[in-house]
Amino acid sequence: MVSERCGRSSSSSSSSSSFSAENLASGSAEEDQTADPPQAERSTMATGTTPADAVPSPVPSASGSASSPSAPGRPGSFISYITTEEVPDDGGASSSGGSSRDRKDYNNASRNPPSMTSSIRAHVYDGGLRYHAFRDGKYAFPNDEIEQNRDDMKHTMTRKLCHDRLFYAPVEDALRKGGQCLDLGTGTGIWVIEMGDAYPATSFTGIDLSPIQPNYVPENVHFFIDDFEEEWVDPEDKFDYIHVRHTLHSVRDRGALLGRIFKHLKPGGYVEFQEMHYVPHCDDGSMTPETPYAFRDFMSYLEQGMRALGSDLNAITSLRAELAASGFEDIQQVTHKCPIGVWPRDKRLRLCGHFMRTATMDGLRGLSRRPFGTGLRWTQLQIEMFLVDVRKAVMDSRFHVYFPFHVIYARKPSG
Ligand SMILES: C[S@@+](CC[C@H](N)C(=O)[O-])C[C@H]1O[C@@H](n2cnc3c(N)ncnc32)[C@H](O)[C@@H]1O
Repeated sequence: MVSERCGRSSSSSSSSSSFSAENLASGSAEEDQTADPPQAERSTMATGTTPADAVPSPVPSASGSASSPSAPGRPGSFISYITTEEVPDDGGASSSGGSSRDRKDYNNASRNPPSMTSSIRAHVYDGGLRYHAFRDGKYAFPNDEIEQNRDDMKHTMTRKLCHDRLFYAPVEDALRKGGQCLDLGTGTGIWVIEMGDAYPATSFTGIDLSPIQPNYVPENVHFFIDDFEEEWVDPEDKFDYIHVRHTLHSVRDRGALLGRIFKHLKPGGYVEFQEMHYVPHCDDGSMTPETPYAFRDFMSYLEQGMRALGSDLNAITSLRAELAASGFEDIQQVTHKCPIGVWPRDKRLRLCGHFMRTATMDGLRGLSRRPFGTGLRWTQLQIEMFLVDVRKAVMDSRFHVYFPFHVIYARKPSG
């Protein structure tokens, strides 16, 4: 259903060290953990500067040889979805960015001047990849079909990794009774749509820079194109639950965002972050710090490139302390291991690893272009040459590597 809301454009615990790869491989271990991540894994806030030694010359020394279908066709509750009004389309070939600060529900064409609607829905093209035009350059990764498929694949993988849970915060009752939920950086909206189906009494709002959400959605789901790092139009104390998944890596000012989340949550409401720690880990010695492994190099360069563009790829490792500093209480953490590749013996984890490897392989080009090109000033040729070794490394099942996947949730004090 189209939203009534005005103002938006437009749809216990420690990290991994105690698990062993053997456990992963045998499938006998519960990989959930509940404590602080090891101090050594914590990273500092992004500085926005480019380390001089981040620029390779002339080609980086790669040391080693790293669900659901898109929406209108989504199965399941298709019949219960309603069609929002079609909005004028610019043909998808526009190169002009949206610049209006007016924010409206883009699914509601009757409330949007066609020109704004079309600029909000525009895209920019760069090196054969498609990016969001609204707040052009804010998000470093593409929004094209490949990226949308990757996001949906990661959604399916994340559900499997989390034993089919869509969330961990204790908000089930609030959602069943009927509350307000906000999803920041909703992407294709797949999480919000599945939540909307599961909790019909709750109103779900998904916000993203990119207009890549479907027109057929459950009637309690609303999408808006907006930059969640700008002030929100929502009243204070509005939301029962705010969800942020696979998106923290791109937040420029986490302190400001946490302050905003705090302000707009109801007293007693919860925020939940779900995010990978994007450093390949290994428990069985098949990959050590000395092992030449180009995928580890890739992730390290990606972190440097993202820092140059203004965000911290591994911000999740600092989040618990930041939540506490922002006034949140009852901060809880669950950590899973997300394998990269089909090396685990356990069937569920092998499937997760398969999805993660595919999503990684499909994403290498899009992941690297702006962070490596714009951020680290590599040439396209340098990037492509480096990716040859990275692809070999990602596909090499001798390396039993995984990313820790952290779920961290916290409560705004009740009064
Ligand atoms: C990797 S996708 C994750 C999508 C979704 N959360 C999921 O888990 O399937 C990250 C999304 O965050 C969006 N995003 C990043 N920064 C944003 C911002 N400041 N405001 C709104 N959306 C943002 C991007 O456009 C992108 O669609």
